This record gives sequence, structure tokens and C-alpha cells, in this order.
Amino acid sequence: MEKKNLDWANLGFAYLQTEKRYVSNYKDGAWDEGALTEDANIVLNECAGVFQYAQTIFEGLKAYTTEDGHIVTFRPDLNASRLADSARRLEMPVFPEDRFIDAIQKVVEANASYVPPYGSGATLYIRPYMMGTNPVIGVKPADEYQFRVFVTPVGPYFKGGAKPITIRVSDFDRAAPHGTGNIKAGLNYAMSLHAIVTAHEDGYDENMYLDPASRTKVEETGGANFIFITKDNKLVTPKSDSILPSITRRSIMYVAEHYLGMTVEHREVEFAEVSEFAEAGLCGTAAVISPIGKIVDHGKEILIPSGMEDMGPTTKKLYDTLTGIQMGKIEAPEGWIKTIL
Ligand code: PLP
Ligand code: COI
Repeated sequence: MEKKNLDWANLGFAYLQTEKRYVSNYKDGAWDEGALTEDANIVLNECAGVFQYAQTIFEGLKAYTTEDGHIVTFRPDLNASRLADSARRLEMPVFPEDRFIDAIQKVVEANASYVPPYGSGATLYIRPYMMGTNPVIGVKPADEYQFRVFVTPVGPYFKGGAKPITIRVSDFDRAAPHGTGNIKAGLNYAMSLHAIVTAHEDGYDENMYLDPASRTKVEETGGANFIFITKDNKLVTPKSDSILPSITRRSIMYVAEHYLGMTVEHREVEFAEVSEFAEAGLCGTAAVISPIGKIVDHGKEILIPSGMEDMGPTTKKLYDTLTGIQMGKIEAPEGWIKTIL
């Protein structure tokens, strides 16, 4: 299979239309058999549930080219089950988890020429999503839904790649106590747009959201979980019911403990503790592991000791081990890697 002639090393995190996508429709209480299509557009009624009451959920995962030339995905079963959790919370039908994995297989295979080559620094981002499609005017769930998967080749989420970023403590909340922060619903991202646009205008790369009830504990950013390294080399990651359960974060916790022999603490993290950590970073499918150099709290700067030039040494080890597993350089735990081709 011949690869597309793209400037892989200089791709940003942007949408590039590829050839095939997967579509399955839900009607009269059942999903149809689903199929690949070349049509990247969706035509829906003006009153569709997704347009009126934002009944839409999504996932994000990646396909990688391994050192020995295979195309693989990383823990797609966890994306399937998280999409099912999101669906239940928004009163949407669950797309069967085995069919989710099969849809990903089909779309990645059909767009194999867009999977960036090994060592290019780019990957294929996979976006499964689902929305309410029939007209809904009273506030209630739709009766009909569409599940789709498209793919797009991407480079680093933050422009500098592995350069440490600067974030600020947001005055906005990302999630409500007992709200929808723990699912991947479009509505969580719509409400973060003003916060991220103004953060960028003010010169910051991202927002740190604190817990909405007391604003004393660290939650996450608009699109990634936090990891912190203590001065005695423990991994600490915030725990809260309103954080999205990141698959990358769960994988890093396992890697830290079982590959690097570190102590791992998944617990509430007071914002007041942040200045005590030796290293800090963001983790997620898009963010991979992005180091944080500085956190600004209303003018007060917290300089992370690992600095603004390079990833801290433990963050680097976590990054190398995680991406080594994803790219087939390091043996993966049982069941983590799904070979597509
Ligand atoms: N937190 C939020 C709000 C996200 O949107 C994402 C991205 O999916 C993550 C965390 C990271 O999750 P994952 O590692 O499963 O991609
Ligand atoms: C992902 O990491 O897959 C996300 O959905 C986060 C988003 C900021 C692109």
C-alpha cells in the first residue's frame, strides 16, 4: 500500500479529509448493519436532537505504525466502553462494543495510506462519535441516532511538540458536581471554548480547572488529565468524579508501577500542593504526555522545577515507555495493542 504524499513531520493537530468513514444508523430500537462511505457530509433535519439539545458524544484514539511496519491501535476496548458510559448518561442507545472495535478496524484499514509512517512524529487520529438525528422540540432524548467514525492524520496537539507549556488557573468551571465531567460529551467542550480562546489571547497554552465545588483541588484541562511527579519520584494523578477517566492516564499509572517500579497515587490533589511537585504534565490521546513548565494563578507564577526547556527526567521515562509500547518498541501488557494490518 502506497502512503499519501504528505509532509508528515509538519502536520499540526488539524482535520484533513480522508477517503472512507463508517456510518451506522439507529432506528426503531435497533442499529443497522453499518457501512463505509465516501460521503464526509451529514444532512439532518433542522430540529435534530444534536442541534437543539446537544445530544452528542465522542471518543478519540490513535492508530500507529510500529517499528516492524504494522498498523496498530491502543486499547480501543476502553474507548468502546467509555463511549457506552457516555451514551447511558445522555440517554442514548449503546453502540455495541464489539461493533465499535470492528468499525475502527474497517475505517483504519480503508484509510491505511493516511497512517503516518513509523518515526514521522505523526499518528492517525480516530474520532468515533454519535448524535441524536430525528426532530426533537420538547426537551427529551431523540429516538434515532447515527454513529460514525472518521480518521485524520495529526501531529502534536501543542505547537512546540515536547516543549513545556504554560497554563493558567481558570476562572471558569469545566464541570459541575454530579454533572457530566466524567463522560465525553460535546457539551463539556462547548462550554470550555470561551475559556480556551481567552487563555490563548492572554498567552497561555491551556487552562487548569479546579474542582467546581470548592475550587481548592486540581481537576484537569479542557482536553487532558494531569500527572505530577513528587520530589521523591512518586506519580500523583488527581482523582475526582468530574474528571474524564483518561485511558492514557490509566495506562501511565500502570507503566509507572509495573515498568518503572514507581509508587503511584491516584487521589485528590490540593492546588496548594502543586508548587511542591518536581515535574508536571498533561496526558491524553491528543496531548500524549505534554510537560508543563509554568502554572499561573491570577498573576502568581508557579515555576515547575523541571523548567521551560525540557521534559523532566521521569516524565521523559514515562513518555518513552508509553510511546515505545504504542509503537511496538517495548512489549505491551496483554491486550493493550490491537493489530489492524
Ligand atoms: N480529559 C479530557 C477532558 C479529554 O477530552 C481527554 C481526551 O480524550 C482526556 C482527558 C484524555 O483522555 P484519553 O487519555 O482517554 O484520550
Ligand atoms: C483526545 O485526546 O482524544 C481528545 O478528545 C482531546 C481533544 C482536546 C482533542
